[in-house]
Formats: sequence, structure tokens, C-alpha cells
Amino acid sequence: MGGFTEEQETLVKQSWESMKLNVPELSLRFFSTILEIAPAAKGMFSFLKDSDEIPHNNPKLKAHAIKVFKMTCEAAIQLREKGEVVISENTLKNLGSVHLKKGVIGPHFEVVKEALLRTIKEAMGEQYSEEMEKAWSEAYDQLAAAIKAEMKEEA
Ligand code: HEM
Repeated sequence: MGGFTEEQETLVKQSWESMKLNVPELSLRFFSTILEIAPAAKGMFSFLKDSDEIPHNNPKLKAHAIKVFKMTCEAAIQLREKGEVVISENTLKNLGSVHLKKGVIGPHFEVVKEALLRTIKEAMGEQYSEEMEKAWSEAYDQLAAAIKAEMKEEA
């Protein structure tokens, strides 16, 4: 197998440990970047659609940002330990149906990926490296693939 290395796992884990110290700023930056890349995504999120600005300190906004970062970090750990991303059936089913219901489609995952990577680059500053980006990118791709497969099955 391609093999997700221990170094890659460490890069993801350590950068998440550091980034999660500043969740309010991180989640705001993440959502600003999503909307910069894809303004139409605004209509999808309950907490964005009725306001002109991205709300500061909105718990749902923070929750989605944390979920994406944290689950990608967990995916990295699993890739190293098991060689694949394993999500419990209930969690996966819920993820599949929530995203389907909100009208999320395949290309949106690319938007969120780009926003994730740009946010990491900005947040990590001098500690950022190509290897770090590659590790996050691989873990995200595998996680997104699992969610997309579930969405296809439910559609
Ligand atoms: C909700 C995770 C990608 C849009 C959620 C929830 C989780 C989650 C855990 C909450 C589910 C619940 O309410 O029980 C993830 C992960 C992603 C991902 C791990 C990528 C790996 C995306 C993408 C979009 C998206 C690409 C579209 C741009 C949404 C929306 C909601 C949601 C609109 C409902 C939020 C609300 O309005 O409260 N996601 N998501 N997600 N997700 Fe994602």
C-alpha cells in the first residue's frame, strides 16, 4: 500500500494541536475562505444564509470547522494505523444524509479542501511545509471519499 507514514501522522497531529488553541479565529478564516472560493456555498449553511457577514463566535460555524479539522486529523491517525479511514456506520450514515439534505455535491468537497489547506498555511505560518500540506491533503481526500461514497449509496 501507498502507506501514510508516521511523519505524516505527526505533522497533522502537531499542527492540529497548535491550531486548535485558536478555534474562533481558525473557524472564521476557514469559512471566509470557503465563501471566497465559492460564494454560493453561503446559502447552504443555516448560520450564514440570513446574514451579510460571517457571524463571529457562532457555535454552529465553529462546530463545522472543528469537525472538518478534527475528523481529518483522526483520518490521518487511522491511515497510519490501519491503512484506511474507518468511520462507524452510524456516524457515516448521519454524515451522508445531513450532507445530502443540505444539497452538498462532489465538487463542494474540493472547495472545502482548498479552504482547509489555505487556512492551515496561514495559521501555521513559518511552521508550514509542503509535507504538512500533503499529509493533510491525503487524509482529507480519504475522509471525503468515504463520505461521498455514503452519499452516493443514499442518493
Ligand atoms: C454538517 C462534517 C464537508 C456542508 C456537518 C456535520 C458534520 C460535518 C459532522 C454535522 C452533522 C450533524 O448535524 O449531525 C463534515 C466533514 C467534511 C464535510 C468531516 C469533509 C471531510 C462538507 C462540505 C460541505 C458541507 C464539502 C459543503 C460545502 C455542511 C452543511 C452542514 C454540515 C451545510 C449543516 C450545517 C448547519 O447548517 O448547521 N458536516 N463536512 N460539509 N456540513 Fe459538512
